[in-house]
Amino acid sequence: MAVRRQILTLDEFTIQQYRKIPNATGELSTLLRDIALAAKRINVEVNKAGLVDIIGDAGITNVQGEAVKKLDVFANNQMLGVLQNGISCAGICSEEMDDMVVFNDEMSNRSKYVVMFDPLDGSSNIDTNVSIGTIFGVYRRVSELGTPCVMADFLQYGLKQVAAGYVVYGSSTMFVYATRRGVNGFTLDPSIGEFCLSHPEIKCPDDGKIYSVNGGYYSQYKNNVKNFINRLQNKTKQEGGPLTQRFTGSMVADLHRTLIKGGLFMYPLTTENPHGKLRLMYECNPFAFIMEVAGGKASSGDSRILDILPASLHDRTPIFIGSKNMVDECLEELNGRETPNAER
Ligand code: AHG
Ligand code: MN
Ligand code: MN
Repeated sequence: MAVRRQILTLDEFTIQQYRKIPNATGELSTLLRDIALAAKRINVEVNKAGLVDIIGDAGITNVQGEAVKKLDVFANNQMLGVLQNGISCAGICSEEMDDMVVFNDEMSNRSKYVVMFDPLDGSSNIDTNVSIGTIFGVYRRVSELGTPCVMADFLQYGLKQVAAGYVVYGSSTMFVYATRRGVNGFTLDPSIGEFCLSHPEIKCPDDGKIYSVNGGYYSQYKNNVKNFINRLQNKTKQEGGPLTQRFTGSMVADLHRTLIKGGLFMYPLTTENPHGKLRLMYECNPFAFIMEVAGGKASSGDSRILDILPASLHDRTPIFIGSKNMVDECLEELNGRETPNAER
């Protein structure tokens, strides 16, 4: 008789992991459980979009000058709430908030972690039922334990992340997180309301067949980027072509696919966004960390994403991320000679 394989919940899995580490306190497991709770609450609301008054603009703009959606506000409050009420986080920064939030109570001041997050990624897709997500990065604070956290705790290299992850609210809801030990994916089983291990030890294939870029901004890209896009579009069969191009407008959805199937995701600078559009701390660093642990690569074009020292909380960066060989091929073109724009 076939015996059903044991399914591990996210909590069981993280506890199993920290048991392997001598002197581990379990604080990270608690933190991940808190974030998973926020994700479940956000998921419930996302699933009701259309039935309840949660679709549409909140009527305000954020520090980035973008229209804030009602679900952005809801997701932000959930993330903030679980981390503030929990016992493992000293403070947070959010894409949707101007400044850091220092929790500054006795328990939080004793916590060794701070968290940076994009509560809802791809929010322009909410109204049309396209996959959206939540992204987070966890840092060990550099300030003294027992004191309130400070700005320096947040303005760290992405390389200093101890864990990073995302939730994708898609055809199923998944929680994927990475520590230096590996990347693991958990699918929400709605019947028990738990994330269950479904994608153990995720590795990003070294090559892929799909690339992601917003082709609508082609005329705004620099020549070297245009040339590389042309190269991707004109690959012969011998060169592994033809490739497929997909761009959803939700970085989480595009990068989840890139992580699992291999491929390349690009968000270059444009004339409209001369420093790039995507946020270093809330979007690029967490994904760069996850991708590198999974065997992939992430670059701004000039440097490894994880080696960029942030100057302020809401810094942006261009990003080229995904399968190792595809990122290398891209960097080779970007850093080659500045050629005039190739014919399409
Ligand atoms: P957010 O919803 O958190 O503001 O992020 C949206 C981001 C990213 O997820 C996506 O790749 C990109 O913006 C899409 O923007 P464009 O449609 O302007 O390319
Ligand atoms: Mn985002
Ligand atoms: Mn967002």
